[in-house]
Amino acid sequence: MASKTSRDVLGRGLRVLGRAIREQPRIFAAAVTGSVLFGLMVIGSAFVVGGVVGEVAAPAIARGSVARGTLALAAAALFGISVLRVVGIFGRRLGAGYMQYALQADYRRRVTRRYLDLPLSWHHRNATGTLLSNANSDVEAAWYPIAPLPFAVGTLVMLVGAVVSLFLTDWALALVGLAVFPALFALNVVYSRRMAPRQARAQRLRAEVSGIAHESFDGALVVKTMGREAQETARFAARAGELRDALISVGRLRGVFDPMLETLPSLGTLAVLVVGALRLGQGAITVTELVSVAFLFTVLAFPVRAIGWVLAELPRSVAGWDRVRHVLDATGEMPYGEATLDPAASTPATLAFRDVHFGYEPAEAHLPGTEVLGAVSFTVPAGKTIALVGSTGAGKSTIASLAVRLVDPRSGTITLDGIDARELSAAALAANVALVAQVPFVFDDTVRANITLDRPGIGDEEVWAALRLAEADGFVAALPDGLDTMVGERGTSLSGGQRQRLTLARALAGRPRLLVLDDATSAVDPRVEAAILAGLRTPTEGAAPASILVVAYRRATIALADEVIYVEHGRVVARGTHADLLATVPGYTDLVTAYEQAEQEREQPRPYDEVSPLTSGLEVEVDR
Ligand SMILES: Nc1ncnc2c1ncn2[C@@H]1O[C@H](COP(=O)(O)OP(=O)(O)OP(=O)(O)O)[C@@H](O)[C@H]1O
Ligand SMILES: [Mg+2]
Repeated sequence: MASKTSRDVLGRGLRVLGRAIREQPRIFAAAVTGSVLFGLMVIGSAFVVGGVVGEVAAPAIARGSVARGTLALAAAALFGISVLRVVGIFGRRLGAGYMQYALQADYRRRVTRRYLDLPLSWHHRNATGTLLSNANSDVEAAWYPIAPLPFAVGTLVMLVGAVVSLFLTDWALALVGLAVFPALFALNVVYSRRMAPRQARAQRLRAEVSGIAHESFDGALVVKTMGREAQETARFAARAGELRDALISVGRLRGVFDPMLETLPSLGTLAVLVVGALRLGQGAITVTELVSVAFLFTVLAFPVRAIGWVLAELPRSVAGWDRVRHVLDATGEMPYGEATLDPAASTPATLAFRDVHFGYEPAEAHLPGTEVLGAVSFTVPAGKTIALVGSTGAGKSTIASLAVRLVDPRSGTITLDGIDARELSAAALAANVALVAQVPFVFDDTVRANITLDRPGIGDEEVWAALRLAEADGFVAALPDGLDTMVGERGTSLSGGQRQRLTLARALAGRPRLLVLDDATSAVDPRVEAAILAGLRTPTEGAAPASILVVAYRRATIALADEVIYVEHGRVVARGTHADLLATVPGYTDLVTAYEQAEQEREQPRPYDEVSPLTSGLEVEVDR
């Protein structure tokens, strides 16, 4: 941004304004009409005041008496003009405010909508703090100049009107106007050019400050336990300091230019008085005309500032708009197909991976992306439970994401009941498959809302059934308001194991035909974990029978699976029953034994439900 020339910023800023006008043409027209009415009344008031002085006050002083009729006429004219001015101001403000906030709301919606459409790979490359600032301060900044825009447009019309009326009055006075008005305009342009890089910098720093703040709140646990408060505060303070400096430099520039913009019209008034006195002496103009013109310069000073406000906000608007457009123009969303799966089928689904290769997109486009999965093929037959076992970083979560189509493979196919996942509609996918992710996410809402997610057909009965299956009914029933209990953002008022079971219940409530559990019960005590899986495999009421793909570590859990798929370095190296693999694959035995030892060292099952959320969250971290 800083490298772009200011002329460029002016042009691009005007194009952003043009877009705003095209989106809200009627409101804009109404606001400008109000503003033009106001402008014409300002000129009118100058001439009425001139008339009052020339025709009423001066003769009255000369004669010592006032003509009643003239006085009444003057009063009526002044009153009428004031009323019309008020109407103009009202129309302009209402229109400008409506337009600004309507655009902001609309673009906030568009940006957040876009976030949800963009693929995970895009989200991996963009920090959450930046996304927040895109949807908030960038959208706001982009439409900031809309507030003074109708005023500025009305002022331009007013300036033209003023010059015309000056020429109708006297050419010499008109020349003063011709000197002052363009100078005012030029000063405003210089002002906005100087402002451009400063505003762009401030806008970028706003995003960075919000990014750092977001990161340290989000990672509050790590920050606290690692004693990083001071460093985090320092990191934040450094960037906040830069933002402060950037804003001060904006303020300093304002401090220099604002008085200049204020002074120029006063100098104009002075010039009018000097030139006007001469012309009065020559008999070229009347007292009425001189007073009118002098007064005109005085009342023009304020509206002319509106042009400066628009120009001064343009750079910030362009910077904000660029960042908003970065989101709106981002591509790569996954197109969904039209295919549906038989909605009547309450049978489990069959999932098949065939020769699937996958790699994450590199953070920078020119870097080569490494392959994370190579030639992965396996099937989860209808109604079966398949355990996915492998050491950390082997690619288990990646397989889970592919199975529910959060990402697409580079090559190879993933099918559900024989249909390529890419051909399924978004609704079909959502209705048939559910992923319980490795990191549980809980919304800042009631327990009920967290489970139903506003999906139709999930009443309290279904919610309780899902909670029972997830072994979560006990603790939810014990919550102060039961299903109506508010759980904090990201479930901070719940323990790690409670949070996991809540997200599991959420998945179950949708009655998926394929359930993918990515280490979804790691923070739950092992016996409860086994009970959950056993319950899922022999569904009673409340759950459609589902095929299950489960990332697991514990022997008791793995042993429940019909088959185990053992992955190492993104490849399936062995498959078979748990007993087969234990007998034939040394690496597998080592891994399972190591996990078991770790589990035993902890000995007692941890009473997760009793410990504070902070500690239990920490243990989850240490767990893996
Ligand atoms: N968003 C990402 N961007 C780039 N690389 C990634 C991303 N997520 C995972 N990887 C890489 O892909 C590989 C597989 O990761 P994955 O998360 O699938 O492992 P995992 O088997 O689930 O591990 P864990 O047991 O620790 O959860 C790892 O080498 C990891 O570094
Ligand atoms: Mg994982």
